[in-house]
Amino acid sequence: MISGPLRSLLHKAHGVLLAMNPQVVFVLGGPGAGKGTQCAKIVENYSYTHLSAGDLLREERSRTGSEFGQLIDTYIKDGRIVPVEITINLLKKAMEETMKKDENKFRFLIDGFPRNEDNLQGWTRVMDGKADVKFVLFFNCGNEVCIERCLERGKSSGRTDDNKESLEKRIQTYLQSTRPIIELYEKQGKVRTIDASRSVSEVFADVKSVFDREG
Ligand code: ADP
Ligand code: C5P
Ligand code: MG
Repeated sequence: MISGPLRSLLHKAHGVLLAMNPQVVFVLGGPGAGKGTQCAKIVENYSYTHLSAGDLLREERSRTGSEFGQLIDTYIKDGRIVPVEITINLLKKAMEETMKKDENKFRFLIDGFPRNEDNLQGWTRVMDGKADVKFVLFFNCGNEVCIERCLERGKSSGRTDDNKESLEKRIQTYLQSTRPIIELYEKQGKVRTIDASRSVSEVFADVKSVFDREG
């Protein structure tokens, strides 16, 4: 039994360690499964920062002087996964900037990543030992529901990929490239699966129970 000053010291050291190594939850699921919607609700209720790989790529696409704008644009329309060298730098930079501004902000929801083998390898290469992946939050939702939600979103999102043609490709990419990554984490016991086909509040009730337990 450790008590008194030593306990307090260990507690502090533990806090410092946590503060130094970002704690990451990967958020995965098909296009339109509700990743962004649920992440926003997690941020309201728990001390997490939401980083969407897709949002970061769209930002980079429209950044004046970006050398990757055209490439990102083409990949997004085609529903293909951008080479990880680009994405991992955006993610790393966003994490570093967040922690630099506020050292208490070391918990991250990384939404829409890793989406394929290349993403995963890039993460391991750059972030191994520098960040801890706590678990993968998987929003499980049928393809038809996913497509329907994205088409609905497309009425106002202005996204170049919320249309039937791009969506078919995005679903294929999801099935062929992302599902195997989820299965890989599943084998490590790291996946928390949520039935995402229900209403926003029903889905969030399940999300809450995951974060109350281990967030
Ligand atoms: P993702 O980030 O996984 O692509 P979003 O959170 O952007 O998904 O949601 C896609 C669309 O579906 C948005 O228009 C959103 O408002 C809507 N939506 C999200 N969750 C639900 C839900 N549980 N039921 C119905 N519509 C939803
Ligand atoms: O997650 P979101 O739906 O915003 O992603 C939109 C698109 O951004 C994807 O279909 C893909 O073209 C690109 N993307 C990517 N790599 C990621 C995440 C998103 O290439 N890790
Ligand atoms: Mg999203």
